[in-house]
Amino acid sequence: MEKVSVSLIKADVGGIPGHSTVHPKLKEKASECLAEAKEKGLLVDYRVLHVGDDLQLLMSHRKGIDSEEIHKLAWETFEAATKIAKELKLHGAGQDLLSDAFSGNIKGMGPGIAEMEFTERGSETLVAFMMDKTEPGSFNFPIYKIFADPFNTAGLIIDPLLIDGFVFEVWNIKERKRIFLKCPEDLYLLLSLIGAKSKYVIKSVFPKDSSPLPKDEPVAVVSTEKLFFIAEKYVGKDDPVALVRAQSGLPALGEVLEPFSVPYLVSGWMRGSHNGPLMPVSFKDAQCTRFDGPPRVIAAGFQISHGNFIGPIDLFDDPAFDLSRKKALELADYLRVQGPFEPHRLPPEEMEYTTLPGVLKKLETRFEELE
Ligand code: F6R
Ligand code: MG
Ligand code: MG
Repeated sequence: MEKVSVSLIKADVGGIPGHSTVHPKLKEKASECLAEAKEKGLLVDYRVLHVGDDLQLLMSHRKGIDSEEIHKLAWETFEAATKIAKELKLHGAGQDLLSDAFSGNIKGMGPGIAEMEFTERGSETLVAFMMDKTEPGSFNFPIYKIFADPFNTAGLIIDPLLIDGFVFEVWNIKERKRIFLKCPEDLYLLLSLIGAKSKYVIKSVFPKDSSPLPKDEPVAVVSTEKLFFIAEKYVGKDDPVALVRAQSGLPALGEVLEPFSVPYLVSGWMRGSHNGPLMPVSFKDAQCTRFDGPPRVIAAGFQISHGNFIGPIDLFDDPAFDLSRKKALELADYLRVQGPFEPHRLPPEEMEYTTLPGVLKKLETRFEELE
């Protein structure tokens, strides 16, 4: 059976203007680097995309996950793009490259990664989701809806291949621990954790007994990198990405997209410090403008053929998501009126990961003890 690996690796290596979008020259450079790797046989195929100020490298190959060669290729591609970003004096050039030299694995060096290896089915449908101005926990809500909520995914109760549900791997990203929870049995336990989305993040999802798919191959993966924990200072939000497989024993494409019909609230937006609606947009609207946002998500749809990407199809370029966008804008207006007041601004625990502590430090000496 033919195994394929898909790696989606992203970094913000400079924005134009500010943190709004990626310059086409950076995408051109990245395409050049990946084309060369394809020619040499390291990659089967690739696509270069962007959402907001994040440069996205989608690569298929035969090297499995955590491959030094693939991670090195991504790192060097970001370095090459950074060089151009510096020449053009783009804003925050190289901001997500937090290390000076590559040392075997790109994890913990700044870029975000979602990758998985799986046996390519007769028909292999894949969606790559990319978000800007938010954090990895923003995938908790849609991934839960897709793989555990029958009000979203009709197949969970109608399709005999889905009836047993799925296994969720959840990470505690603050204490670096993980837990596997089976749904529907552990559904309430899953929700008790993942509602706290800044601490517990769904990392991957696996099939269960009723599924024809290999049980040890993930059907969805999310990037979980926390830049703050790597850099130990605020260097922007950890704009996340995810890969979700669909159809034939998995949620249908429409079930995978359905959670985004609600512009649910996520944290991020301006200065990584505000709650705001997540707006599903087409590739052409993947630039963050109003108050550096609102946070956005794009969805690139593919069929995979012997490791080749057939696509992308710009899945949110559809009037069916207009109402979600309209609601997002109404929510954005409503929240913006509250300016610096919570819950528009994030609570103090979350503000620790922003530049606010620098301001509070200045006030320390002006506080007086109360009797
Ligand atoms: C949020 C983000 C932006 C910046 C803001 C200030 O993730 O990237 O909202 O935080 O534009 O940016 P600097 O500090 O670069 O001026
Ligand atoms: Mg940026
Ligand atoms: Mg970004």
